[in-house]
Amino acid sequence: MEPTKTLAAWQQEYAKVESALAAADVEKTADLPKLEEVRVRFLGRKGELTELLKSLKDLPLDDRKACGPKGNALKAAFEAKLSAAKSRLEDAADADAFRKDAIDLTLPALRPPRGRLHPLTTTLGRIADIFRRLGYSWAEGPQVEDEFHNFDALNMPGDHPARDTQDTFYLQDLPRLLRTHTSNVQIRAMEAGKPPIRIVCPGRVFRHEQIDATHSAVFHQVEGLVIDRSLGFADLKGHLQTFLESLLGSSTKTRFRPSYFPFTEPSTEVDVKCFFCPGTGCPACKHTGWIEILGAGVVHPKVLRNVGWDPETWSGFAFGIGVERVAMLVHGVRDLRDFYTNDLRFLRQFDEDLV
Ligand code: PHE
Repeated sequence: MEPTKTLAAWQQEYAKVESALAAADVEKTADLPKLEEVRVRFLGRKGELTELLKSLKDLPLDDRKACGPKGNALKAAFEAKLSAAKSRLEDAADADAFRKDAIDLTLPALRPPRGRLHPLTTTLGRIADIFRRLGYSWAEGPQVEDEFHNFDALNMPGDHPARDTQDTFYLQDLPRLLRTHTSNVQIRAMEAGKPPIRIVCPGRVFRHEQIDATHSAVFHQVEGLVIDRSLGFADLKGHLQTFLESLLGSSTKTRFRPSYFPFTEPSTEVDVKCFFCPGTGCPACKHTGWIEILGAGVVHPKVLRNVGWDPETWSGFAFGIGVERVAMLVHGVRDLRDFYTNDLRFLRQFDEDLV
C-alpha cells in the first residue's frame, strides 16, 4: 500500500490532538458522565486519538516506526489520566452516598417499649415491705374454700346474719365456695402452726356484689394475724398506725371507727381522710370525707377455741386491708374498675413504679 500521509501532516495532527487533550483537562472533569464524554471524544470508534493512531498506517514505513511509539505513548498517558480521574470521581460519589444515608448519631434513640408492674402489684409490694420490717412473714391460702374455714371457724355459723353481708359465690355440686375474705387464712395458719404467729397473707377474694367505682366482685386483701401472750387492742392500734404512716406519710389523717366482725372483739374499721376532696365529700368517699381501707380487731376467744388454742394463754389481733382501696389512695385513682380493664393508657401512667 502506498503511503498517503506525510510525516509533517501526521506530526501536525499529533500536535493538534495533544493540545486538545491538554485543553480537555481530564484531571478536573466534574462528574462521571462528562469523563465518559471526553473518553469517547478521543478514544471512541471515531475518536480524535483513535483516528490519529489509525492514520499511522498511511505513513511511509520508516516514519510509521518512529511515530507509532509516540502515538501509543500519548494514548497510554491519556488512559492513565482517565482511570485516575475515574477513581477520584467514584470515590467522591461513594462518600456522597454515604453522607446521605449515614445514621445521625446525635439523634435521641427510640425507646423500646418496656413492660411494667401493675399498680396493684406494686401496692401489694409496698404493703408487704412494711410488714416485713415489722417482723411479719408471708403466708398463702386457698381461694376455693370450705364453709368451715371461710365462716364457721370464724364464729359465723350457718344461721349467722353476718353471712348475708358477704354475698357468696358457691361452687356447683361441691360443698365449696370462693372465699369472701382472706380471713380463712387465719384459721389455716393456726391449724398448721403453733403460737406465736405473726403473718400477712395477700390474696384474691370474691363477692357477689354490685360493681361500682369502689366495689368489684373480685378484689384483693392482705390479711394479718398476730397471736402471742397478752396482746390487746393497743398492740393492734400501734401496728396499724405504724403501717399507715409508713404507707401514706406521717401527716395522713386516719380514724379508728368502732365496728363489728363476728371473729374479732372489739372490732374496728379504719378510714383514711379522702384524698380527692378536702373532706367535704365526693363520690370517691361516698360523700363522707373518709375512705375505709381496712377492718380489724382483737381475735375472738371462740376463734382460738375453734382451733384448739387456750384463750386464757393466747391472744392476738387480726386485720384485713383492701388492696384496691390503698392503691386508689396512693395513686389518686377514683374508679377501682380502672385497675381491671387493662387500658394501656391507664396502665402506662405507673412508669415510676418500675422496679
Ligand atoms: N375479713 C374482714 C372483711 O373482709 C376484714 C377483717 C379481717 C376484719 C380481720 C377483722 C379482722 O371485711
